[in-house]
Amino acid sequence: MRLLVNVDHVATLRNARGEGVPDPIRAARICEEAGAAGIVFHLREDRRHIRDEDAYKMKENVQGDLDFEMAATDEMIQICTDISPDLCTLVPEKREELTTEGGLQLKNVHQDFRERVIPALHQASIRVSLFVDPDPDEIEIAHDLGVEAIELHTGTYSNADTEEGRQNQLRRLAEAAEKAHELGLQVNAGHGLNFDNIQTMLDRVPHLHEVSIGHALISDAIFNGLSNTVSRMAHIVENYEG
Ligand code: PXP
Repeated sequence: MRLLVNVDHVATLRNARGEGVPDPIRAARICEEAGAAGIVFHLREDRRHIRDEDAYKMKENVQGDLDFEMAATDEMIQICTDISPDLCTLVPEKREELTTEGGLQLKNVHQDFRERVIPALHQASIRVSLFVDPDPDEIEIAHDLGVEAIELHTGTYSNADTEEGRQNQLRRLAEAAEKAHELGLQVNAGHGLNFDNIQTMLDRVPHLHEVSIGHALISDAIFNGLSNTVSRMAHIVENYEG
């Protein structure tokens, strides 16, 4: 099982000041040096975090797997085929949402995916993953569409606020993973995973190939680094002699 790190929120922080730091490419390098098998970024229609130039630089700099997460628009397909990542993960995208809110509803989009989206990516030799809820019907449609992988949406599990809800979601994830594996799909998972909830998920859900984690890692990294950073600056300020 491999960890792919989503560095979108390094770019969120950079964009808050409109200057060059923190640089998501530098973050990607540190993640890979620390053991990540690859990097994920989501180029959103509104470019609220990762921007086009970041996406191109990721391709030049990332040594491991590069997973380009995107909505299935013509614009994104064009950029993705140009960059040629190792994997393209297709997600639903709503402009006003704070983050991806659920899986694709393949029941509604399968014809468009079959005719327009997946052939364009496959023609460019890009492997395709579909971000889906742990629903057996969605897994079957993903298989029919001939994609290489699915990413199971773990957000409902991560946000469950009762033990019963958590157990129910773990059951759904395990059954969906089993079914996808039987159908020959690579099984990935992501969204809302953190240090408190990942181990239980790994204990219960079989056949996982990759997990994609972003927000919790970038958040945790702030508190891992803040003490060192502030003592460095405090030292400089304390030595002021003027
Ligand atoms: N997988 C998908 C498809 C996502 O949309 C996201 C969020 O961009 C993630 C994984 C990572 O989620 P998180 O930032 O909550 O770890």
